[in-house]
Amino acid sequence: MEYAVRGKVVIEADKLARSGKSIIYTNIGNPHSVGQSPLTWPRQVLSLVDLPPSAGVDHPDVLKLYPSDAVSRARELQSMMGGSGTGAYSHSQGVLGIRQDVADFCASRDGVPCDPDLIFLTNGASAGISHVLQTCVSGEDDGVMIPIPQYPIYSATLALLGGRQVGYALDEGNGWEANVSSMERSLQEAKDAGVNVRAFVLINPGNPTGQVLSKEAVGEVVKFCAKHGLVLLADEVYQENVYCEGKAFTSCKKAAADMGLLGEVEIASFHSTSKGIFGECGRRGGYMELTGFDKEVFGQIYKLASSGLCSGLPGQVMTSLMVKGPPSDGESFSSFEREKGEIFGSLKRRAQMVADGLNAIPGFTCNAAEGAMYVFPRVTMPPGAAAAAAAEGTNVDTMYALSLLRETGICVVPAAGFGQEEGRSGFRTTFLPPEETMEEAVRMFKTHHEGFVEKYK
Ligand SMILES: Cc1ncc(COP(=O)(O)O)c(C=O)c1O
Repeated sequence: MEYAVRGKVVIEADKLARSGKSIIYTNIGNPHSVGQSPLTWPRQVLSLVDLPPSAGVDHPDVLKLYPSDAVSRARELQSMMGGSGTGAYSHSQGVLGIRQDVADFCASRDGVPCDPDLIFLTNGASAGISHVLQTCVSGEDDGVMIPIPQYPIYSATLALLGGRQVGYALDEGNGWEANVSSMERSLQEAKDAGVNVRAFVLINPGNPTGQVLSKEAVGEVVKFCAKHGLVLLADEVYQENVYCEGKAFTSCKKAAADMGLLGEVEIASFHSTSKGIFGECGRRGGYMELTGFDKEVFGQIYKLASSGLCSGLPGQVMTSLMVKGPPSDGESFSSFEREKGEIFGSLKRRAQMVADGLNAIPGFTCNAAEGAMYVFPRVTMPPGAAAAAAAEGTNVDTMYALSLLRETGICVVPAAGFGQEEGRSGFRTTFLPPEETMEEAVRMFKTHHEGFVEKYK
C-alpha cells in the first residue's frame, strides 16, 4: 500500500526540517498546520462541552469569558449526550441529537428529507470511506471504479483489502470533467477481464484536480451507477470550498432526487470537519449518510461501525458545530461570519493566484482550482529527466519533487501518487500556506523549473 501525500518526499522533508531547513509544506490539505486560525465560536463551544459543568457552563463567571450563544449551545450538546459528556462512548452511529443536526443540514441543503438513523458520525471522512469499501470488497475479483487522478485513500484501501482498482479517466483538456463514455469503456474492460465491479467513487469538488461538477454532470454519474447497480461513494468533503463564480456544489443525493432515482441507487456520501472553512483535521470529525441501502447491507455497515465502538466525541461535537453555526440573532453570529468570510476570501484569492502563477511558467499547464484546496499542474519535463530518474531507480515526478524540495524547501506530492495518463508528469500542491508564502512559492516553482530544465536538457 502506498500513501503519496505522506510518502517519500514528505519523509525527506521532515528529515530536512529536523536538520534545520525551513520547509513550506504544501503536500496535504491540513490548513491549521500551515497557519490557518481556528474559528473562535466552535472552539469556545467545544471547550465548554469538554469542561466539567462546575468549571464551565455552570461557573458563576462563565459569561465574563464566553458569549451567551456558546454557553447555550454547549448546554444543548451536553444534554444531547445525556449528561455522560465527551468522555463516554456514544451510540455506534454517534450521538442521536448530533445526527439530527446533520440530518437537518442535509435536508435544508438538498431540499430532500434526511433520516438521522441513516447518518453515521465518523472519525473524519476516512473512517466512513473505509467501512463502505470494506463492505464492497470481499476478494481479489471485486473492483471499485476510482477517478484517475484520485485521492490516495481509495487506491491504498483497495490495495489493503486485496480488491481491484478500476480507473476511469478525468478529462484534463475539459476541466477534469468525468466523461460517461470513458466510464462505460473502463467498466466494460474490467468486466471483460473478469472483475466484479461493485462500486464507483466520485470526488466532487475534486482532489487533486479541483473541478466542481455541474448538476448535470453529477446526474450523469448517478444515472451510470443506477444503470449498472454500483454503490456510489460520494466524496463531498470539499462541498464548501467552491471559489469559481457561476459554479455551485450539487450533492449526489440531490441529483438522484431530482431525477426520481432516490432509493434506486445506493449512495454513501461523506463530509468532514477537516476541510471547508473549519479545517479542523486533527479533530477527526465527519459523517456518512447512507441512502438507498438494503437493510441487510446497512446492518453489516452498522456492525463495522460498532466494531470501532464509536467515533471520537470531540469530533462529533465539531461536526455538529460545522453543520449548525451560532443562531443568526446570537452574540457570535457576526464575528463567526466575518472570520469565515476572511478565510474563504483568502482561499479564493490564493486559488486564482497560484493557478495563474503556474500557468505563466513556460512548460506548465494548470487547470483552474474551481474548488477544493489544490492545483495539479502538468509539467513538461526536459528530455534527459526520464533517464536520470531511471538511473536513480525512481520516476520523473518523484525526482522532480525531491529536487524542488532540496532546492527551495517546498514539499509537494509527485503527480504519480494520484495516478495520471501515461506520459504525463507533474505534481500536486495545496494553496493553504499564507498568501505571501504562496506568492514566494510560485516564484520558487519558476526558478527551480528553469534550473531543472537546464540541468536535464
Ligand atoms: C477527497 C478526500 N476524501 C477524504 C479525505 C479524508 O479526510 P478526513 O478523514 O480528514 O475527513 C481527504 C483528505 O484530504 C480528501 O481529500
